[in-house]
Amino acid sequence: MSKQPAAKPSKPTAPTPGFTDRKTLRANARKRMEDGAVTPSYSADRTTVIKLLNDALATEWVCVLRYYRHYYMAKGMLADTVKAEFLEHAQQEQAHADLLSNRIVQLGGAPDLNPDTLTARSHAEYKEGGNLRDMVRENLIAERIAIDSYREMINFIGDKDTTTKRILEQILAQEEDHADDFADMLDGWIGE
Ligand SMILES: [Fe+2]
Ligand SMILES: [Fe+2]
Repeated sequence: MSKQPAAKPSKPTAPTPGFTDRKTLRANARKRMEDGAVTPSYSADRTTVIKLLNDALATEWVCVLRYYRHYYMAKGMLADTVKAEFLEHAQQEQAHADLLSNRIVQLGGAPDLNPDTLTARSHAEYKEGGNLRDMVRENLIAERIAIDSYREMINFIGDKDTTTKRILEQILAQEEDHADDFADMLDGWIGE
């Protein structure tokens, strides 16, 4: 077998039209280094993005609490299946809260976890529900609220902050899954 000649090291090339040249990129990276992941090319409105993420964070925590309440209180014929669903959703909402908190910190903000103002800042409500069916219905409503608010946030952020957008899209897909689970349950519901 003939030996392939070694590839020649590429020479530094002129900047591609429309792209920032090497010198400027390097100089920009040295400015405001305390901002960490937020560089001068971040073009979204950072204060608003952090506020929106904090509103979503409050919503997630209210959902975690509501799902745990329902998980412990569920009783009746279908309780075992529904309880398992409530527990799984509680854990998934907590994972969403984790994603949001980490992103808020990356953007230079602070996650607002003050329990005194949590329900007032949340989009979804903390509804206890009288029986199992009520609980499922309340959760479906809360999920539908979350879906609409995440979709709005995604549209607002657009392509200005693709990392935040990707996180929100990932959460939205799971909220849609949650809503679908409950819609299916209510569809075939028998009894109270
Ligand atoms: Fe969630
Ligand atoms: Fe959800």
